[in-house]
Amino acid sequence: MIVQPKIKGFICTTAHPLGCARNVQDQIDHVIQKGPVTGGPRKVLVIGASAGFGLASRIVAGFGCRAATYGVYFEKPAEDNRTASAGWYNTAAFEKAARANGLYAKSVCGDAFSDKIKRHVIKDIKKDLGQVDMVIYSLASPRRKHPKTGEIFKSTLKSIQGAYSNKSFDFDKNEVIQVSLRQATTDEIIDTVMVMGGDDWQMWIELLKAQNLLAPGCLAVAYSYIGPEVTQPIYRQGTIGAAKDHLETTARTLDKLMAQVGGRAVVSVNKALVTQASSAIPFISLYIVLLLKQMKARGIDEGCIEQMDRLFREKLFSGRLLQDIPVDDEGRVRVDDLEMLPDVQAAVKEIWKNVTTENVLRHGDVEGYNKEFLKLFGFGLPGVNYDEDVEIDVKIH
Ligand code: NAI
Repeated sequence: MIVQPKIKGFICTTAHPLGCARNVQDQIDHVIQKGPVTGGPRKVLVIGASAGFGLASRIVAGFGCRAATYGVYFEKPAEDNRTASAGWYNTAAFEKAARANGLYAKSVCGDAFSDKIKRHVIKDIKKDLGQVDMVIYSLASPRRKHPKTGEIFKSTLKSIQGAYSNKSFDFDKNEVIQVSLRQATTDEIIDTVMVMGGDDWQMWIELLKAQNLLAPGCLAVAYSYIGPEVTQPIYRQGTIGAAKDHLETTARTLDKLMAQVGGRAVVSVNKALVTQASSAIPFISLYIVLLLKQMKARGIDEGCIEQMDRLFREKLFSGRLLQDIPVDDEGRVRVDDLEMLPDVQAAVKEIWKNVTTENVLRHGDVEGYNKEFLKLFGFGLPGVNYDEDVEIDVKIH
């Protein structure tokens, strides 16, 4: 089948198997070219392993640390004339490359929030790995079914402090638009915390600990975001911010639990990036358009793989003791340092005030954003012939 992008709103409904494989290989090459990570983990569980930060973390663990990796993800295989989702092809490509390099790589596709998938993972780890010495939690989901009560929670993106209106970007029309969202209700805040907060992360870690699957010195990491002043009302002080507060509080609770095996739990604050999760967030997409331009102009822009490579090499490992992982006043690891540089932020803030449809192409990197977005689904990668027939039914081992 010839596969072309079909974009609906902020999602692309097709994915290109060879393009996704190329994208994964490029990330692998980046890590290999940097050389081995010293003192890295040997057996890693990645929850949310098929895209974005989770996939990049798995690639650094596998190809930088030569770790055995076990991935949990929620993706769709190909069916009839419908391509698989990008994360499916990413996982197939990662595992093929890992095995070709003599690395253990196995995954399960299913709902990480469910008891069923947790039990499945526990069984596989017991059988294949014995224990894990790193657990990466990188889920981004719009909903969660609670495993005990069956209740369904849906995450929303709203401000907690009142109705919110600001500039955003309409990628269909290439226009800067005004978007208004009403204030979140208490239920919406609670729901978002239940989906994107630390509740499920804690369930995973407590279960792994109870089953004696956490190796001595095991490190648990989850990902958070802070971002600029301009998105504070909708992000950090919004429903998703409440969830991130909860995730960060959970890290402190889990840090005590991990200490019982001589390990640690930390949250890493990452940079704003074009991923399937972030492209769904209004306001943030315009911020990323402006940010990209500023960071590229300074030669300091990073993608998921550069971020995760730096997280492993410079922050989490490189021979230092777990207790010496550098953290901020709130106990968080920071790899959003380049994004948050004062001159970058000042420039974005100034441009934000005056950005309009007429000048956005000059002040922002719309083309760069669009390229990154398409790349998520395997499109626009050099060396891939998009006019050629391609087998869309790709099996994962
Ligand atoms: P993503 O959308 O690229 O990847 C999400 C992953 O979660 C995929 O592997 C997907 O299969 C998996 N997943 C979703 N629901 C699942 C379920 N029910 N069961 C099993 N797997 C499931 O997301 P991204 O952007 O990499 O986000 C990961 C984390 O990083 C999130 O906590 C996010 O808030 C955080 N973060 C994201 C930033 C960004 O700009 N994209 C910035 C800083 C932090």
